[in-house]
Amino acid sequence: MPRASDLRRLLRAAARAREFAYAPYSRFAVGAAVLAGGRIHAACNVENGSFPLSVCAERNAVGMAVASGARRIDAVAVVGGTSRPASPCGGCRQVLAEFCDASAPVIYACPGGRPVSTTIGALLPDAFSGQDVKEVVAPSKGIRRQQGRSGPGRRPGKPRSAPRGPSSRNSGR
Ligand code: THU
Repeated sequence: MPRASDLRRLLRAAARAREFAYAPYSRFAVGAAVLAGGRIHAACNVENGSFPLSVCAERNAVGMAVASGARRIDAVAVVGGTSRPASPCGGCRQVLAEFCDASAPVIYACPGGRPVSTTIGALLPDAFSGQDVKEVVAPSKGIRRQQGRSGPGRRPGKPRSAPRGPSSRNSGR
């Protein structure tokens, strides 16, 4: 359980990252910071002229944590909003839930404002979990034997044979 001082540090890191937000289209600057193994990873939102390609601050912060080797996020802070603190959007809640326990603290605040304190489980109850996917993709041994036609040891998504290169493509002529 992160200490209150860690959460205050996390909030300050999110506020600093917000200063770098690239938000020329919405003008809505957001900073986020995640705590992973005692380290803070902070980022801002990065928009794009092709609007759907814009990336939220939380997702960029998660990306930084994962790229530095983290696989578990212990706490999250978000700074954004004017009249009311911006809570993480639905998509970011799902992305955070991939790496957070339901009990992981999430705090969010307006710049310089009092933070709202909650947890990822409260923000996204009964979250869809990657565990559900794993059960289908890597079924128990018994089921796998029943599916023997696809060949022993074949990994899901892996082609049965190597894709043909340019030299073999015309070999039938
Ligand atoms: N935004 C975030 O960075 N995080 C959220 O959780 C919600 C929205 C950004 C995306 C976009 O750049 C701007 O805020 C307005 O939606």
